[in-house]
Amino acid sequence: MNRLTNKHIILGVSGSISAYKAPDIVRRLQDLGAQVKVILTEAGAKFITELCLQSISKNKVHHNLWDENAELGMGHIELAKWADAILIAPASANTIANIALGKANDLLSSVILANDAPLLIAPAMNLKMYQSHTLQDNLSTLISHHTIIIRPESGKQACGDIGIGRLAEPSSIAKQVAKQFISTKLTGKKVLITLGATIEAIDPVRFISNHSSGKMGMALVNACIESGASVTCIYGNITTTLNAKSNNISIVSAQQMYTKVMDNIAGQNIFIACAAVSDFSVKNASNQKIKKDGGDLTLELVPNKDILADVCKLKEKPICMGFAAETQNMLKNAQKKLKNKGCDVIILNKVSSADSGFNVDENEVIFLSQNLNKKIGKNSKQKVAKKILEIFIKECL
Ligand SMILES: Cc1cc2nc3c(=O)[nH]c(=O)nc-3n(C[C@H](O)[C@H](O)[C@H](O)COP(=O)(O)O)c2cc1C
Repeated sequence: MNRLTNKHIILGVSGSISAYKAPDIVRRLQDLGAQVKVILTEAGAKFITELCLQSISKNKVHHNLWDENAELGMGHIELAKWADAILIAPASANTIANIALGKANDLLSSVILANDAPLLIAPAMNLKMYQSHTLQDNLSTLISHHTIIIRPESGKQACGDIGIGRLAEPSSIAKQVAKQFISTKLTGKKVLITLGATIEAIDPVRFISNHSSGKMGMALVNACIESGASVTCIYGNITTTLNAKSNNISIVSAQQMYTKVMDNIAGQNIFIACAAVSDFSVKNASNQKIKKDGGDLTLELVPNKDILADVCKLKEKPICMGFAAETQNMLKNAQKKLKNKGCDVIILNKVSSADSGFNVDENEVIFLSQNLNKKIGKNSKQKVAKKILEIFIKECL
């Protein structure tokens, strides 16, 4: 199973003789579906070339904190934000000491300090170095900071000694990274998610729709599946790829979405209304293409049924999370929606800026419930979805 599909992994390669195994680690991570970017320390570059790691990872290798071009966009912060997990393999004694001390004196240590994703380190060194009190103290410090240590193996070492300190096998390292993404928090839960844009016909060739791509909803589908949920996904017009592990139901119009939601809502534990459903449809849409006759054309619009509000009114109501795409009076409108619809959570989605919200890969939202008003800072929709779910599980389950 490709447990790292869509996952962004930063591989830090530091100055150990076993850095020659780093390309193999990149490959094993890719075999599990990951995208990998490498940060190479100065000492690491003495053992393995940037060109080799770039060719295998298919991404530029990062090594310089003082790269003027990258730092124009605060490159080290951007790298930290990109990562779903950071793995240092091999991790030298020096790099381990740096991280344990919270130093930020090169690109790798700076990215780690700015990172809030899981950190895994695979030490590799001579057995005496590995057994030294300072190294062991540094590892204990890192464990107390929730770093996952991938223990080295015993065997013949590059220096000729025999004992513990050899880098763990690349395939076993990749498997341990994948393990970080297994969660059982939603095991046994059924989740119904709507996503994408609905399409309201004007005539057989023209329609009213919106800019929703379905990416935010799909990120939530993926996050729920990763947490063990059984997911039904009702989707309209989307520009993203469906998850084959969810029960996927296609619809076109708001009315069809309403019907499919109501047909499938019984027995669901959680309902996430992420679709951009048209509030109105065209009264008496034409069966034939409307011809221009030189005059004005007036369309009469009638309100569609409110899916979220009606699900919230059900006797056996699931826990409901709605999305509010707002351009003005955002907080006020979202709070009104939370109250009026009687739902448990509203995710306030600011859609007025070009670089977050509709039809882009990043988002910035506010998680609103009766007791909570929490901003989730700008990040990839995958990371925002994970954060939303994390808060939702803590607050609502
Ligand atoms: C030939 C050679 C092999 C080395 N192998 C290791 C090693 O396996 N593990 C280790 O912790 N340090 C090893 N070192 C020492 C590190 O490269 C050195 O401490 C360096 O400063 C680490 O820098 P970095 O942590 O920034 O990558 C080796 C040094 C040399 C010259």
